[in-house]
Amino acid sequence: MKIGFLGTGHITSSVIEGIIKSKLKVKKIYISPRNRLISKKLSKKFKKVVISKNNQQLIESSNWVFLAITPQVGHNILNSLSFKKNQKIISFISTINLTKLKQYTKNKNITRVIPLPFIGIRKGPIIICPRNIKVKNFFNKLGKVIEIKNEKISKNFWTTSSFMAPFYHFMETTSNWLTRRGVNRRSAEDYTRELFLALSQDSIYKNNLNLKQLVSESQTPGGINAQALRELKKKKFYKIQQKVLNSIFKRF
Ligand SMILES: NC(=O)c1ccc[n+]([C@@H]2O[C@H](COP(=O)([O-])OP(=O)(O)OC[C@H]3O[C@@H](n4cnc5c(N)ncnc54)[C@H](OP(=O)(O)O)[C@@H]3O)[C@@H](O)[C@H]2O)c1
Repeated sequence: MKIGFLGTGHITSSVIEGIIKSKLKVKKIYISPRNRLISKKLSKKFKKVVISKNNQQLIESSNWVFLAITPQVGHNILNSLSFKKNQKIISFISTINLTKLKQYTKNKNITRVIPLPFIGIRKGPIIICPRNIKVKNFFNKLGKVIEIKNEKISKNFWTTSSFMAPFYHFMETTSNWLTRRGVNRRSAEDYTRELFLALSQDSIYKNNLNLKQLVSESQTPGGINAQALRELKKKKFYKIQQKVLNSIFKRF
């Protein structure tokens, strides 16, 4: 299969890294010349990656086309491109819905997908809408596919993906606190990364328990986890988290 990426930015780089590390049978990966720096870097690094002359040539050379441009660019250029009939189109674009995408591309074979940057290490959730078995099989090699029927629901997942930077900031604050207490930076960061990695991995191993049960399982009455949770709740830490999610949701 030959695939092409319209827009060679952050998410395209991660998806291509993931594809190369996977066992997916992809013969050629065409990328658009923009961004110049990233496209040059990718084509130098991976033999299969070829820079197309322009967007139209990329579409014509590919069986599947991935839309990895920003919404604004999508509104500006999709209308003027000619997609092949029944060519598979996969859109990563956050805020252009299926109806609009079909209008722009004059193609009905479209799936919206939400990859996240760690797709580059073939990890993490990947939202797919609407359900499509071929797209599911493809992305299951790059992470954990979660299919949804109604694209409106995808807005909720876009919203929660805003917690990547806050999550890392939580880690950074933890590590900085250790450093201020006299732990050297390297040890503080190593400790923090390992702690949060183990917690996430453990939650996957224990997927017979729901998250509420995990919260309960990880504290003993009167213990330090129970105290930390109680104090954070009292200071409305988690209420604020909900409010922030509601506020991000309004953007979609
Ligand atoms: N980043 C993520 O984690 C993530 C996750 C899921 C979905 N998405 C979605 O994926 C899309 C891309 O996100 P991104 O973070 O990868 O953005 P990005 O890094 O800004 O990449 C956008 C790319 O589009 C290129 N471009 C601009 N105009 C173009 C044109 N006329 N023809 C072809 N390419 C053009 C840009 O090139 P120049 O630099 O030369 O302008 C750049 O390489 C967005 O719609 C976003 O919502 C992103």
